[in-house]
Formats: sequence, structure tokens, C-alpha cells
Amino acid sequence: MIGENFTLITGASMGIGRAFAMASAARGFNLILVALPDGQLAEVQTEILSKWKVKVLTFTVDLTQEDAVKALFDFCIEKQLSIDGLINNAGIGTGGRFENISLEKQLQIIDLNNKVLIRMCHYFLPLLKLEEKAYILNMSSMEANLPLPYKAVYTGSKNFVFAFSLALREELKSGPVTVSVVCPGPVVTNAEGLQRMKAHGSRAKLVVLMPDEVAEIGLKGLLKGKTIIIPGKINWVLVKLSRLFPTTTKMRLLERLFRVYSTH
Ligand SMILES: NC(=O)c1ccc[n+]([C@@H]2O[C@H](COP(=O)([O-])OP(=O)(O)OC[C@H]3O[C@@H](n4cnc5c(N)ncnc54)[C@H](OP(=O)(O)O)[C@@H]3O)[C@@H](O)[C@H]2O)c1
Repeated sequence: MIGENFTLITGASMGIGRAFAMASAARGFNLILVALPDGQLAEVQTEILSKWKVKVLTFTVDLTQEDAVKALFDFCIEKQLSIDGLINNAGIGTGGRFENISLEKQLQIIDLNNKVLIRMCHYFLPLLKLEEKAYILNMSSMEANLPLPYKAVYTGSKNFVFAFSLALREELKSGPVTVSVVCPGPVVTNAEGLQRMKAHGSRAKLVVLMPDEVAEIGLKGLLKGKTIIIPGKINWVLVKLSRLFPTTTKMRLLERLFRVYSTH
């Protein structure tokens, strides 16, 4: 991931994606950063260029638009970029009772978290396969293993990312591309996240991480070729422990813990 090769990061204008961009630049990786138009992507680019000697290209687009991923791919081909890292980070979510969240919002979550991620892998895999060694990091969530009531569609979308990544990894194991999936617990990336953490009180602080911690652990895991990356020791233990509980007990407990989301 050094030299004239590029790492492509979606959702890089803020939060965890921005942290991945910073952590990658600090390692000397050239970057292609993607986010929505009118966001803070240019500021991220300027900050990186002021700190590290790497190349940073930006591409702003609503990735959920039908031709957006193709347009991004064409941009990379036109510029003859070699890509050996793909970090599929862009994602959205929402909390509340399933029946109270508009169908439009629910489908937007699937569009970005799942459909865009599939398109990204499908378009960019042939480019990644041209490299001696290349990496895909897909952004799932701890919730892929702990299905959360009142975040049903988001949880489902991250479960899809989790399973898809494991399956794709096996399909690609004899080639140069390694697929890893990262499953963070709660990460404070914005005011809403802070509010959510406060709603859960002190127990939330045990599992909450900052974006730069997630990015650092995520990148290290990716470069080591780890299959599943769960940032944070307590989060890792919680996921492992959760597998020992009978599903019904686990789901009842989760419903009680996350009832706070039901009125969001
Ligand atoms: N935060 C958490 O607690 C947490 C926990 C586990 C997993 N995750 C996952 O980690 C990822 C990043 O989360 P985050 O909290 O860092 O998110 P965030 O702060 O809301 O940032 C989202 C990023 O995605 C971009 N984006 C959103 N919609 C887009 C679209 N339609 N087309 C192109 N770019 C789009 C945003 O661009 P603009 O800035 O230009 O809008 C922004 O750069 C997501 O997949 C999320 O599900 C988050």
C-alpha cells in the first residue's frame, strides 16, 4: 500500500472514515477519498497534505445514485490509478421502532450499507487483483453479532456485511486480495453519538471508542490479514460471551438494554 498505489476510502469526510484516512496517510499511503458533495472532504484533504507527503485525490458523489460507483471507477481508470486498498466505510443508520421509521429511510440504509458496498467490491475487485497484495476492509458493526431491537434494519444491514465479507474472503483466498471485516461497538463521531452514549449512562463508556482508535486497530488488523476485527478488548469479550447465551435470553436482554432507542 506504499508508493504509487492508492487506498480508496468511502465516507472519508468525517467520523471513522476520516480517521481511517488520517491513519492511512500517516503510514504513507496515497489516498482516494470519497464522500457526499458539500461536506468536509476538501478540509480533510488539506489537513492530510499539510501533515504527510502523500497524494490525496477526492471524489464527491452520492454513492447511492445508480451510476455513482461506476463514475468513481471510471475516474480511477481515467487517472490510471493502481489501487491496493479498499475501505468500504460509508454507512448510515437510525434507531426507533421498525414500524415508525419510514420505508424510504429503511431502504436508504440498505442502499448505502449493502448495495453500494457490493457495487464497490464488484467494480474494484478486478483492479485490486492486478496487485501483488491487496486489501478490502468492510465496515460492519458489533451489532452484526448482537442483533439490536429498535435498530432492526441497520443491524440486519451490518449482519449482511459481516456474512458477505467472510464468504468473499474464502472465495478469494488463493489470490492476492485479502478481505477483512471490522465490527466496532459504539464510536463517538458526532453530537448524536454523544447523545446516544449519554442516554446509556456510565455502562456505555466501557465499550465506547473514539474514531482514531477504531481506525488504528482496523488498519493494523487489515494489514495483518485478520478475518474479523473487533476493536476494544471489552467489546471483543462481549461478542465472544454473547455466543454462549441462548438466543432467546440474549435477545430479551438486548431489548431491555436498547429500549431507550424505541422512542428515537
Ligand atoms: N459511529 C458508530 O458508533 C459506529 C459503530 C459501528 C459501525 N459504524 C459504521 O462505521 C461507518 C462510519 O460511521 P461514522 O459514524 O463514522 O459515520 P459519519 O460520521 O456519519 O460519516 C459518514 C460518512 O459517510 C459519508 N456518506 C454518507 N452518506 C453517503 C452517500 N450517500 N454517499 C457518499 N458518502 C456518504 C459521509 O459524507 P458527508 O460527510 O459528506 O456527508 C461521511 O463521510 C458506517 O458504516 C457505520 O455504520 C459506526
